[in-house]
This record gives sequence, structure tokens and C-alpha cells, in this order.
Amino acid sequence: MKERILVTGGTGYIGSHTVVELQEAGYEVIIVDNLANSSVDVIDNIEKITNVRPIFVELDCLDYNGLNNLFIDYPRIKAIIHFAASKAVGESVQKPLHYYRNNLVSLINILELMPKHGVGGIVFSSSCTVYGQPDKLPVTEKAPIKTAESPYGNTKQISEEIIRDAIISEMPINAILLRYFNPIGAHPSALLGELPNGVPQNLVPYLTQTAIGIREVLNVFGDDYHTPDGSCIRDFINVVDLAKAHVIAIQRLLEKQQKQKIEAFNIGTGHGLSVLELINVFERVTGIKLNYKIVGRRAGDIEQVWADPTFANEELGWKAVETIEDTLRSAWNWQLFLKEKGLQ
Ligand code: NAD
Ligand code: WQD
Repeated sequence: MKERILVTGGTGYIGSHTVVELQEAGYEVIIVDNLANSSVDVIDNIEKITNVRPIFVELDCLDYNGLNNLFIDYPRIKAIIHFAASKAVGESVQKPLHYYRNNLVSLINILELMPKHGVGGIVFSSSCTVYGQPDKLPVTEKAPIKTAESPYGNTKQISEEIIRDAIISEMPINAILLRYFNPIGAHPSALLGELPNGVPQNLVPYLTQTAIGIREVLNVFGDDYHTPDGSCIRDFINVVDLAKAHVIAIQRLLEKQQKQKIEAFNIGTGHGLSVLELINVFERVTGIKLNYKIVGRRAGDIEQVWADPTFANEELGWKAVETIEDTLRSAWNWQLFLKEKGLQ
């Protein structure tokens, strides 16, 4: 019998790619999502790619009783990947209480229900945002956690602490915290990708929307940083590579006999790329001349951050393999797919 994995937020950007990889690795997937930031059509596209339709339950993770019933309706769930969260940094400054409630109460509900229903493992979506501007680059998992720059970032730090404290209290679970760097790109089929709500806040969706003519110009926030070309540097990680890290994390949780263990892994490429370098690669691989202009710095931006992924490479046996060229090509193909479908 296939092992059953619950994926919260599974119709979202990273969740949907992860469901594909889980199904291709032979797991049975149950998706829980309230569709606050995704579309149910994603289920059809996951089925088109994998020939398997995941079970989908429209449910809010804030609904404790609803979640409890889900575990009764679908017994023998072995582990959970918890993606469901609100993730817009700027919005979190405007609506902090929404962010604290949605991101923290959902997690607490899940943690409370895990031992009740015999679920032994959780993979949690954390973020490089917990490191702020690291003192040393590349940043390792041992780097100090810096004061959060936003309520969103704070929810990731507090979530990590909640999971750690639950395990210290001898809850019979294991946890893996995956600290993602900057996920970009789309599925090579162009059937899945990021669907930003309104004006994109992140670089690559804004860039592809500019290239296709939805936005007039891409603003590059600052060229006076202490970096070789003056623009910020990030570790851009392909979303399919990222999705695969979750499958490995799940395998690790299921194989582990030892209980009450928590581990954190950086999920990045190990290479920093500047904003201007990324624009250059995009122009080169698509042949499109991008309309961009340099403007002032964006408040709250980190100057430069990239991962030391050695722990994930050696301990998980996971490594980012996709090139930045293929990744940006996939983001562009996804934008073309959205246009063709009249979705954007
Ligand atoms: P996303 O918004 O595309 O996916 C999140 C999904 O969760 C959405 O489908 C949304 O409808 C759902 N959701 C939100 N609140 C819910 C609730 N209360 N109950 C049920 N479903 C709910 O975001 P994503 O980019 O796929 O991010 C997934 C996770 O990874 C999030 O926890 C995010 O904070 C984290 N993360 C994302 C990035 C990034 O840059 N995309 C970086 C680091 C960490
Ligand atoms: C990348 C670079 C911008 C838009 C955010 C969250 C972080 C994590 C990932 C969840 C920066 C520049 C951007 C634009 C630009 N998410 N930029 N013009 O800020 O590194 O990280 O997403 O956990 O927590 O903070 O990502 O894509 O917004 O920006 O010049 O229109 O692109 O200044 O240097 P960021 P981003």
C-alpha cells in the first residue's frame, strides 16, 4: 500500500510542484488548501503531469475540528508537509494579526493533531529570512537567527520555535525545517508555476510580467549596494529542485526510528546571483530586451545572502541541479502558458 502524506497548501506554488514529485516517487497525497492564494485548477494540471489525481480537501487549517475530521476520514497519514501560510512580506506589515493567526494557529492545530492521530513527522516550510543579513557568507544553519524584518518573517522564526518546544516537551514526532532561499521558475511542462495575486512583489514574476507586457517597466531596487555590480545578491533556487528536497525529507522522516528529533536544512544552490545578472541571463535565454530601470532601494531589503547547502548535500543527499538558464526559461514558458489560457 502507498504511504499517505498530507500536504497543506498543496495547490500553492511550491506545494503543487512538491505534490508532483511525491506522486512520482510513489506516495499517496492528500492536499488540504483553503484556496486563499491558489486555484483548484491546479489539481487537473497535477493529474495531467503525473496521471494521478491527488485527493483534494478544501479546508482552512485554522479549522481544528475540520482538520480532526480529515484525519479520521483519511487514516494512516504517515507525515505532513506544512506549506499552508500567508507569505507576502509587505502585506504582513499591513495585516500583522492576520499573519500571526494564519501562520501560527494553523501550525499549532496541526501539531496538536499529529500525536492524536499517530502522525510521526512534519516537514515545515521555513525561510532564509530567519538569518536576516548574515555576518558571514555563505550562511550555514548554525548562523544566528536575526531579529525579523517583518511580521511574516517573525512567523517563520516563531514557527521554528514552536516546533522545537513541542519536540522538547517529548511530543512523539520528528521535524525537518527546510529553510528555502529564493524559489523561482516553474514546472518544465509549463502546467504549474507561480500565480501571483495582483501586482507581484517578487522579482521573477514581476520580470516575466514586464517581458510579456502586463507591466511597463521592472524597477530594480538599488545599484549602490556593496556588491560587484551594486544590485542585491540572492540564491535563486529552482522550484522543482526545491520540491525534490521535500521528498527526500519525507523519506528521512519515515525511515527514522529515533523520535523527538528536529533538524534544519538550507535549501539553496550555494551560489549568489545579483538582480542585474539575473536580468542578463533572462535576456540571453529568451532573446527579449527587458524594459527595466534602476530606482532607489526597497525598504527592508537584505544586501546579499546565499546558502551554504553542505549539510543538505551531505546529510540529505540533496543537491540543486537545474541551471539558472533552464530555470528562467521555465518561468518564461509559464508566463506564456498563462497568457495563452487568458489567466494573465
Ligand atoms: P503559496 O501562497 O503559493 O502557497 C500557500 C498555499 O497555502 C496557498 O495555496 C494558500 O491558499 C494556502 N493557505 C494559506 N493559508 C491557509 C490556511 N489557513 N488553510 C489552508 N490553506 C492555506 O506560497 P508558496 O510560495 O508556495 O509558499 C509555501 C510555503 O513556503 C509558505 O509557508 C511560505 O511561507 C514558504 N516559503 C515561501 C517562499 C517563497 O519565496 N515562495 C520562500 C520561503 C518560504
Ligand atoms: C529579490 C531581489 C529585490 C522585485 C522574499 C522574502 C523572503 C522569501 C523570498 C518567503 C531583491 C529585487 C524585487 C522588483 C527588484 N519569502 N527586486 N525589483 O526580498 O529576497 O525575499 O521572498 O519566505 O522572506 O522577503 O525576494 O523576489 O522580492 O527580491 O529589484 O520588482 O530582487 O530588491 O534584491 P526577497 P524578492
